[in-house]
Amino acid sequence: MSKVRISQLLKMKQSGEKITAVTAYDASFSKLFHENGIEVILIGDSLGMVLHGEDTTLGVSVEDIAYHTRAVRKGAADAFVIADMPFMSYPDPDTAGFHAAELMRAGANMVKMEGGEWLVDTVKHLTQQGIPVCAHLGLLPQQVHLIGGYRVQGKTKEQADKLIEEALKLQAAGAQLLVVECIPAALGKRFSEALHIPVIGIGAGADTDGQILVMHDMLGMNADYLPKFTRNFLVGHDSLAKAVQSYVAAVKDASFPGPEHTFS
Ligand code: KIV
Ligand code: NA
Repeated sequence: MSKVRISQLLKMKQSGEKITAVTAYDASFSKLFHENGIEVILIGDSLGMVLHGEDTTLGVSVEDIAYHTRAVRKGAADAFVIADMPFMSYPDPDTAGFHAAELMRAGANMVKMEGGEWLVDTVKHLTQQGIPVCAHLGLLPQQVHLIGGYRVQGKTKEQADKLIEEALKLQAAGAQLLVVECIPAALGKRFSEALHIPVIGIGAGADTDGQILVMHDMLGMNADYLPKFTRNFLVGHDSLAKAVQSYVAAVKDASFPGPEHTFS
C-alpha cells in the first residue's frame, strides 16, 4: 500500500469505499495491520485499559501516547497514524497545541480529541498551526465518570440533533475526520450524510464511511468481555494475518458490523 494521506481518505468517502481502521500500540502489530490492508492506525488512549489493565482511560499521559506512537510509526511508515490526546491534555487551545506537537513529532499524522462545541477554538488553533485534527463524538470514554458508565449516546432526537450540529461546527473549525462511538446506527448514517469529512464508526452501525476497533477486541484477546459492537476475527483463521484480512474484507463489503453488532 502506498502512503495513506488525508486526501485518499476523503476520496474513499466520496467514492463509497469503506475506510478500515484499528488501534495499535507497537511496531509489530502496526506492521501486521498495515501490511494486511488497514489504512488508518490509532494509538488510542484505550491503551490505559488494554495495556495497563485500568478500568478507564484517565491514567494515560501524553508521554505514554508519544512512546507508543513512535513504536507504531516504526512498524508502519506508510499508514495514516492518529494519536489520541489523553485526558486533560487539551483543556485550552495553547495547552492542546503544546501536547499535540509532541505527538506529531513522535510520528502522528493527526491527533484526536473527545468533545463537541467547546473544542471549536482548539480545533481552529491546531489546524492553523499545521496540526490535523480528528474529532470524536458520541460516547466519550474520558467522561465516563460524568456520564456514569459506558453507555449508548444520542438515543433521543434532541440528543441526536445536537450531536450533528456539533459535528458540523467542528468540521467548519477545520476537523478533517470524525470518530463516532456507541450511537444508534441511524445516527451513524446521519453523520456520514451530513458531513463532507470521513466519519469512522465504532458501535455506530454499518453506514459510516469506515470502521475502527480496538485491536484486542478484533483479535478476541479479552476473553472476559467482548463489547456488543465488536467481533473476534481470529475465529476460523489460523494466522493473525488472515484474521486482519478478514476484518478488512468484512469492513470493505459492509458485512461488518452486522445487525447483531449494532444499536438501534
Ligand atoms: O482509544 C481508543 O481506542 C479509541 C477508539 C475506540 C476509537 O478512541
Ligand atoms: Na480514545
